[in-house]
Amino acid sequence: AARWPGVIEAYRSRMPVEDGWEIVTLGEGGTPLLPAPHLSELTGCEVYLKVDGANPTGSFKDRGMTVAVTAAKAAGAQGVICASTGNTSASAAAYAARAGMTCAVLVPQGKIALGKLAQAVMHGARIVQVQGNFDDCLELARKTAAEYPAAALVNSVNPTRIAGQASASYEICDVLGRAPDVHCLPVGNAGNITAYWQGYRRYLEDGVISATPRMFGYQAAGAAPLVHGAPVRDPETIATAIRIGDPASWKGAVAARDESNGQFKAVTDDEILAAYRLLASREAVFVEPASAASVAGLLQSAADGSLPRGSLVVCTVTGHGLKDPDTALLNAGEPQVVPIDPAAVAAALDLL
Ligand code: F0G
Repeated sequence: AARWPGVIEAYRSRMPVEDGWEIVTLGEGGTPLLPAPHLSELTGCEVYLKVDGANPTGSFKDRGMTVAVTAAKAAGAQGVICASTGNTSASAAAYAARAGMTCAVLVPQGKIALGKLAQAVMHGARIVQVQGNFDDCLELARKTAAEYPAAALVNSVNPTRIAGQASASYEICDVLGRAPDVHCLPVGNAGNITAYWQGYRRYLEDGVISATPRMFGYQAAGAAPLVHGAPVRDPETIATAIRIGDPASWKGAVAARDESNGQFKAVTDDEILAAYRLLASREAVFVEPASAASVAGLLQSAADGSLPRGSLVVCTVTGHGLKDPDTALLNAGEPQVVPIDPAAVAAALDLL
């Protein structure tokens, strides 16, 4: 089989990329659409996981970043800048490194997961911790980019990001031969749900699919502005990736819900952590907490009857579990230490 070329080459005619541009890619996209037998049994639906933690930097952000950095490079920008809860900064740092460009990232102080910080450091980004939350970081990044045009803003307010992220919808339809009945997503800044909906609509217009899915978006209960219908001033959740109070793509998210007969719901941190553990222990898919919000939501909607039994459901799990080792090891304790002795190993495993 041919090498997977990355999302720009895979969906070239649907990407805002001009002939002759140098494509900046790390081979993103083409991620597994994995059947989820345990979740299917629990919900009475046919559930698949779109495992986007399998992207090059471990999150779905790579789908948009390849397009954003390709466009920035073509426009002659020297660098890129973004605000981030962690994954966007890891992705921007990697694609900028690949492009030979500089990268500056603004992150909320003390609120980004360890693995994401490690990635930004290793890829050579200039990292600034802001004494504020993501919403403050995004406002600062927008102002900074406006004043220093040598750096292109690569947040999802940049339409190239949305066009790239729409590739996930194309991939899902290409594999299933149709769109799912329901698509479940975690929602933070709301770029991704906007992108998926754009992708499904595009495939419908192009006659590739004959119906679009209902879009179900889930926010953390402490950071659920779209559920409340108003911004949240001090968003809080263990799922730091979606700790966002005033999503930039608010209108896109509301359109996705309303046009698709979808819904927004809130999931508590306890529900998120339960889904996080279930995904790892039963489906063998290790995701970061924000990603588990889509599965927590799936279970909630199945329980309250808003998800019809028998539906074909895709849940996107957006980021890899290794991004956030601290949360994984919360309450885990240290593994037992034994001498080099078979009897001690047997005793430690309760085999005696
Ligand atoms: N899941 C993960 C793992 C994320 O990192 C994000 C967003 C989302 C879900 C929500 O997607 O913002 O498009 O609604 N992370 C951004 C970042 C904000 O800076 O990495 P969204």
